[in-house]
Amino acid sequence: MTDLTTEQRQAFALASRYPAHVDAARLYGEEFHRDAAGLFRALRARHGAVAPALLEGDLPVWLVLGYREMHYVLTRPELFDRRTPWNALDLIPPDWSLQWILATESVMRSGGEEHERRSTVLHDALAAVNQFELRARCERIADALIDEFAAVGHAELMSQFAQQMPVRVVAWMLGFPLAEGPAVVRDLLILMDYTAEAPAAYGRLLARMHDLIRQRREWPTFDVASRMVHHPLAAPDDQLVEDMQYVVSGGQQPTAYWIGNTLRLLLTDTRFAMTLAGGRRSVGQAMGEVLWEDPPLANLSAYWAARACQMGGYQVQAGDMLVLGIAAAHTDPHIRPDQTTGAGGNQAHLAFGHGTHRCPFPAQELAEVIAETAIEVLLDRLPDLSLAVPADKLRWEESVWFRGLTGLPVVFTPA
Ligand code: HEM
Repeated sequence: MTDLTTEQRQAFALASRYPAHVDAARLYGEEFHRDAAGLFRALRARHGAVAPALLEGDLPVWLVLGYREMHYVLTRPELFDRRTPWNALDLIPPDWSLQWILATESVMRSGGEEHERRSTVLHDALAAVNQFELRARCERIADALIDEFAAVGHAELMSQFAQQMPVRVVAWMLGFPLAEGPAVVRDLLILMDYTAEAPAAYGRLLARMHDLIRQRREWPTFDVASRMVHHPLAAPDDQLVEDMQYVVSGGQQPTAYWIGNTLRLLLTDTRFAMTLAGGRRSVGQAMGEVLWEDPPLANLSAYWAARACQMGGYQVQAGDMLVLGIAAAHTDPHIRPDQTTGAGGNQAHLAFGHGTHRCPFPAQELAEVIAETAIEVLLDRLPDLSLAVPADKLRWEESVWFRGLTGLPVVFTPA
């Protein structure tokens, strides 16, 4: 085996250990990014609700495309969990860019009683956020961001607005001192870019969280950090830091893309045409439609099979990894027989996950207030906002996980 190239070794491992994954669809690369939805349709036609697939590095996973099957995985913690070691760990290339899937030790990776304790702390700390104060703060932050570009008559709304909103609100809500806000914002945005700078930014963020915990232990105030530190079920500091870090970073991209995808819908779909003539559908309706049609988290990583089982006609082995296709499940013909009609006000989407690890309800509400306030303030301030490029020139991020725009250039009358 010593004379084999890395690719040959990988191919040999697939053939001997994961025969169903030989020549499986790749969830990366140009072809995938050109038309992920088309690929998922083809996979559903060929394999049904569960398909063998390959992550970057040709690492084998089961892609769950069916709504019912996804529901099944998310509600059977005894069968699918976050702790079972992956049986393909030895195949991971040393420079694998998806290492973060395995790296986190946050609430999201915990299970059983530990998960219950950590998610209760998070739930209680987030649920106590004052909704009036939150909305007022979101308005002020949105106004301040718009002030920076309102006079020039054009803007790129992803980087200048949508990406800036969640981190600013969450940094305030968690309790970072005002003076530290800009540094937290800068480091989080570096982290989200996954560049070579990311590990240093991550280290600085963790150090700031440790400081915040120390301060709030001595001088509690009315912020989320104080409530987490002084909660009767509070975890040791290292776990608290991981969970605070997840609150700041876990909501960042999904909320930013929720804002961006909704603005795109409002600006491109005549049903939402922004005219003063009336009859315009509401921002809330557009946000709800986006959760079905362009869910910001398009694919969810990762669950592992704790035991061998049958899924969608395939034999899944203990330790196999599953990727949950949220966007694909939303177009499952079993729940959407007529793909041309929208889901209306139906709330049964899986955009916030489901089951024990679903996005905590107070976090969902928080994200909704941030996104809705941001969009409403923007439309109020710049009522004749329109796209600066044809709609088909807008580009989606080349990510298997997220569904979000790389940019959203707009023009408007300078205000
Ligand atoms: C500031 C806003 C947000 C915060 C603070 C937040 C926080 C969290 C936390 C702490 C978890 C982990 C729950 C656990 O494992 O027990 C989580 C999970 C999740 N969140 Fe959010 N979230 C936010 C916004 C969003 C948005 C906008 C979306 C998508 C539309 C979203 C989708 C999800 C999903 C799908 C999960 C489940 C992940 C899984 O099963 O691994 N979140 N969120």
